[in-house]
Formats: sequence, C-alpha cells, structure tokens
Amino acid sequence: MKRKIIVTSDGSHSLEVEEWGETYHSIHGAIQESNHVYIEQGLMKFMDQEEIKILEFGLGTGLNAFLTMATTVPKQKKVVYYSIEAFPLLHEEYELLTFPSLLPEFQEGEDLFKALHRVPWNREVSLHPQVNVHKLNATFETVKIQKCDFDVVYFDVFGYQFQPHLWSEAIFKTAYDSLRPGGVLVTYACRNPIKRNMKTAGFTIEIVPGPPGKREMLLAYKK
Ligand SMILES: C[S@@+](CC[C@H](N)C(=O)[O-])C[C@H]1O[C@@H](n2cnc3c(N)ncnc32)[C@H](O)[C@@H]1O
Repeated sequence: MKRKIIVTSDGSHSLEVEEWGETYHSIHGAIQESNHVYIEQGLMKFMDQEEIKILEFGLGTGLNAFLTMATTVPKQKKVVYYSIEAFPLLHEEYELLTFPSLLPEFQEGEDLFKALHRVPWNREVSLHPQVNVHKLNATFETVKIQKCDFDVVYFDVFGYQFQPHLWSEAIFKTAYDSLRPGGVLVTYACRNPIKRNMKTAGFTIEIVPGPPGKREMLLAYKK
C-alpha cells in the first residue's frame, strides 16, 4: 500500500492510501475525529477507573494511542494499550508526523509519541509508569487475543467500501470476545451491514452523533 502524508482541516496530519484515495482519518480533522469518536465516546466512559484496558484495531499513525495518553497521563490513570497492525508505518513516515506539537500542554507528548513507534512489536512494554503498550504485528483476520478483559475496543479499520471483510461477524466476534462484560466497541462508521454483523456477533448497538462531517457513529456494548 503506497501512502502519503496529508494535512487535514484542523491542521493535523493523516495518511492517504494512494490507490484508494482512502485516508486514515477524516479530512475534516484527524485530531478532531479521533477525539470525538475514540476519546469522548470511548475512553471517557471509563475515566472513573484507576486502570483502563484498550484494544485497538489499526495502530496506523498512533494518533488514537497518543490522544489516549494525553487524556490519561495528566489525570494519573493507568492504561494498558494493545493495538493490532499488519502494515506498520516506516520510520521515515512516523518521524514526519507532528501531532505532539499540536498539543503543547501535554509535556511528555513528544517523547511518548516517539517511544510508541520505536518500541518493539509483539511484547508488552512500559512507555511510562502509567502506560503499558503491546503492539501486535498481525492481521485482524488471524490475530489471537489472549485477554478477554478489555474495557474499550477502538475499531479503526479502513472504510467498508474498501475492506468490507474487516467489518464482518467473524472480526466483530474477535472484538466481542476480547471485551469484559460492560465493555464497549467504538467506531466511526454506521452502515446497515455493519450494524447487522455487530448484532450477530453478540453486541447491543447504539447510534450516536458522529464527528463534524459525519452524521452518525456506532457504539457496540457487550452486556
Ligand atoms: C483507518 S487506519 C488506522 C488509523 C489509526 N488508528 C490511526 O490513528 O492512525 C486502518 C489501519 O488498519 C491497518 N490494516 C489494514 N488492513 C489490515 C489487516 N487486514 N490486518 C491488520 N491491520 C490492517 C492499516 O495498515 C491501517 O493502519
């Protein structure tokens, strides 16, 4: 997949897969979208806990992980962050991303963002006394998640029009099994086949307002 860096409407970077014209985030604002979908609708539901366990489908640029740390580290919350990614960014790609400079109040941001990308794959490592990261270099189709106590799944795969098989019952079942009862999957999409496959996998769904440029998005609960 050939990809290039773009600047979205809120000034934050994203990547574009050239052959599809598909971007890793909304062109209306990458930080704005990630904050709305994953932080506000996902992470914030669990900020009363001492420790929050997150599983992400698609590490990509690391923006969701970065915004998670920017939210939890200043509040002294502990985070265990697992993220699955089959096509990691190259050193020369992530070195160009400027997310930390857009959140200057997060003082540890620059160091943590670099560390996130540089730490080895396929083992849990401590990035910070409050942050453990485990990057799984695997495909969503074949990954085996050994844990079943995640609070939140950030489901951030490419759009249904490009990768419909990733929005399947089988993949949602992997996500469902990884969550604890009371956990939630959050995603930016809201198509009917997606809702159907989530329900068949066991989820109870809720439709909520999406970020700017997107009317609706989905929450899927494990009851
Ligand atoms: C929408 S982007 C993720 C955006 C990411 N969360 C971020 O903040 O930059 C989708 C990601 O899924 C990855 N991907 C695509 N197909 C995959 C597959 N079959 N298994 C694992 N990862 C895949 C891509 O490499 C890409 O990083």
